[in-house]
Amino acid sequence: MRTGVWLVGARGSVATTSIVGALALRAGLTDPTGCVTELPDLRGPALPAFTDLVLGGHDVVTTPLTKRAEALAAAGVLPGRLVAALPDELAAVERDLRPAPTGGTQADRAAATVRDLTAFRDRHALDRVVVVNVSATEPPARAHPAHLDPDALRAALAGPDEVLPPSSLYAYAALLAGCPYVDFTPSTGLRLPALTALAAGRGLPYAGHDGKTGETLVKSVLAPMFAMRHLRVRSWSGVNLLGGGDGATLADPAANAAKVHSKQRVLDETLGYQPQGGTRIEYVEELGDFKTAWDLVTFAGFLGTGMRMEFTWHGCDSALAAPLVLDLARLTAAAHAAGHTGPLADLAFFFKDPLGAPTHSLADQWTRLCGFARRLHTGGTRAPHD
Ligand SMILES: NC(=O)c1ccc[n+]([C@@H]2O[C@H](COP(=O)([O-])OP(=O)(O)OC[C@H]3O[C@@H](n4cnc5c(N)ncnc54)[C@H](O)[C@@H]3O)[C@@H](O)[C@H]2O)c1
Repeated sequence: MRTGVWLVGARGSVATTSIVGALALRAGLTDPTGCVTELPDLRGPALPAFTDLVLGGHDVVTTPLTKRAEALAAAGVLPGRLVAALPDELAAVERDLRPAPTGGTQADRAAATVRDLTAFRDRHALDRVVVVNVSATEPPARAHPAHLDPDALRAALAGPDEVLPPSSLYAYAALLAGCPYVDFTPSTGLRLPALTALAAGRGLPYAGHDGKTGETLVKSVLAPMFAMRHLRVRSWSGVNLLGGGDGATLADPAANAAKVHSKQRVLDETLGYQPQGGTRIEYVEELGDFKTAWDLVTFAGFLGTGMRMEFTWHGCDSALAAPLVLDLARLTAAAHAAGHTGPLADLAFFFKDPLGAPTHSLADQWTRLCGFARRLHTGGTRAPHD
């Protein structure tokens, strides 16, 4: 199953690491550590192989991909030997990167994006193209009446207003081009009634939101533990220090608000109440792509006895995110091939703020993901919630 992976934000850290990783896996130069679709419970014939993946994408900057990869290698995010070993493969991907459409109305830019997507699909004779948003986090979208209905949206996009934030305009174009859409960011993306209606009308699946790679991943394991032991979490406070392009974007309070919102959902929904405390994100340029999260949890046990736990997470953000981007592209392509439409709630395992999913517990999400993969591989009937 020849599958295109179209990365929005294709020259960013997560995208570049995903591209180098996919090329290295395809060439047999690395093992798939971090790719959950290569675990025995998920692996199988329904998923496109790494050798079936063809990469392309949009970005607003033009920094050559190889330069971005070399910078990430110098920062210790990925091995320099892989960048050195893959010059032709990186050059081939470079030829499939396009500047983000500019000028005209938003309808014009959506049409240009659709042309880029269909040309990519035709050029490589792809069975399908999965669009994955890994571009910079946006502030929450401003409400607009045209967000409610596909016809109103189409009419409004032809006018002079900026009706949609960029992530949603890419999602709109992906749907018009017949492509499934995955949002790895906390941006609005497809989360507007007009776009979910359009996805349903076109029979397309989508997944999101905001990859779960660090502090929230740990929270989604620990919070169910407190709940299952009937321990009362009194406060849960976290500080995230990060650099890199993502950190610089999140220094903007509006983008920061979108991220903090998606990080908080896990506690509310796992514990059934919101303990005191919050999550702070701070930009520390020196840290580059390596993130440190400190969390302090205070909780009460039997007879109200107070206790506490602390954890520190030192993660390399792009190295944690990139294999999940490849997993999501493979699973979403297989879901599309199997006829799934609408939000892929079974992919909640991958997200901080999962679409349509009733559970935030990582263990429950894992069970659900394994069942989903099993049904994809055996061509079995869908569970009622699919
Ligand atoms: N790394 C992780 O662990 C992780 C986890 C969850 C979510 N994310 C999200 O993934 C996204 C990417 O993170 P990153 O570290 O690669 O950031 P980055 O800043 O390195 O890359 C973002 C890229 O998006 C491009 N871009 C900005 N606006 C664009 C537009 N309108 N069209 C096309 N491209 C555009 C930028 O030029 C840049 O190349 C962020 O939104 C981040 O919050 C990352």
